[in-house]
Amino acid sequence: MAIRHMSSGDIYRIEGPAKVVVKRGQIYATGVVYREGQSFTVLRARRLVVKALDHSEVELVLGPGALLERITPGEEVIDQWESQISSLDPRGIVLIIGVMDVGKSTAAALIGNKALARGYRVAIVDADVGQNDLGPPTTISLTRLNSYVTHLRQLTAEKSIFLQSTSLERIWRRAVEQIDRAVRYAVEKWGVDTVVVNTDGWILDDEAVEYKRRLIETLKPSILLAIQVERELERILEGHKAIVLPPPPHVRAKSREDRKVHREMGYGRYIFPPVELAISLEKTPFCNLPLLSGVEISDSVRRMLAKTLGLYISRAYQAGDRVYAVVNGDVLQIKKVGGFQVVCVPADFERGLLVGLEDWEGFLVGLGVLRKIYYDKKKVIVATSSDVEKRLGEVKCIRVGIVRLDDSFMEVERVTQLLKLET
Ligand SMILES: Nc1ncnc2c1ncn2[C@@H]1O[C@H](COP(=O)(O)OP(=O)(O)OP(=O)(O)O)[C@@H](O)[C@H]1O
Ligand SMILES: [Mg+2]
Repeated sequence: MAIRHMSSGDIYRIEGPAKVVVKRGQIYATGVVYREGQSFTVLRARRLVVKALDHSEVELVLGPGALLERITPGEEVIDQWESQISSLDPRGIVLIIGVMDVGKSTAAALIGNKALARGYRVAIVDADVGQNDLGPPTTISLTRLNSYVTHLRQLTAEKSIFLQSTSLERIWRRAVEQIDRAVRYAVEKWGVDTVVVNTDGWILDDEAVEYKRRLIETLKPSILLAIQVERELERILEGHKAIVLPPPPHVRAKSREDRKVHREMGYGRYIFPPVELAISLEKTPFCNLPLLSGVEISDSVRRMLAKTLGLYISRAYQAGDRVYAVVNGDVLQIKKVGGFQVVCVPADFERGLLVGLEDWEGFLVGLGVLRKIYYDKKKVIVATSSDVEKRLGEVKCIRVGIVRLDDSFMEVERVTQLLKLET
């Protein structure tokens, strides 16, 4: 334990794990002025920049690897962020955009704190499906902010919506719809005054630009906060009024591998303690796949179809002008036979697919991983958490995702062909 004196105007960078207790004076951190007797923490492997607003005395508890360094004003963006943000009234929807590692989550915590300090009721919607701070990877997660935080990670999702993947490429339309639903839920059901929406760092390609622009047009945020390194957000921001902030200069950038490991720990953490359940697909069908939902076709038609396709077909179901055929093979493909579209589903395609077990409102009860579909028994084996087992009665349907995991929850691949199958 160490007591540190800080002069008014001093700026420090703290690397966690650390706890800071203000003994005397005032310390500004993440939008909050902490006074005598108040404290805040800096999480492990995270950095935070703080400023003494007065001659102050702080007690520092530094954990292993923690660091405190005084920096020269101007070296950090804390003053610049504060001057651009302090005059804003954070009521309504605040949308935060920027590439990876520019401080989006930090800015979300900061705005949330500031809104809370004004006496507003605040919700945070984290729509970063890759590095979600509130809930599991592949989700939009939301919660109310009831006390100040230094990192969004300190919060736990009250509700999550399963978005099937760790990247919104190809599935961003549903993301726009669901983020909008999450925001409306916070406003209408929780009655909040402020909703801070954090987003993913997918920015650069054309589809990402289209996604982010559609999101802005749909949410119509009262404040659009853009953290920009160079000019990468220009195409997204064109025609919109935005507060453009510079990124902090010394962020701890995560490598691709870091991000993957972080997510994998996330799956493991949320599918814990693990249990394997046999779920009846008649009672709890797939939300987004029509498998087993049509009429099973007769043996003779099935054999004819198999001959035409040159594939062994174990089962086939007809739904409208589509036939879903479970085949021996390893590529999910769609073939035209007569007036029908035949969707060839490899017998083992489901193994390892991440799924979301959804309730009647479309919120996540819990994540799971598909093990095997037994077409004859109309059952599916799902590895999930014991919490989901207890709440199985709340599950309306199983939404199949496109991330494939191995038995230790390591990401193996993204199965985008699966999207062709969706209804
Ligand atoms: N002012 C700052 N100075 C130094 N480091 C900072 C500052 N603000 C945030 N950081 C650190 O930089 C890292 C990235 O910040 P943050 O998580 O807010 O960014 P992000 O844009 O949300 O990243 P991601 O793309 O991973 O979601 C974190 O480790 C955070 O602790
Ligand atoms: Mg983030």
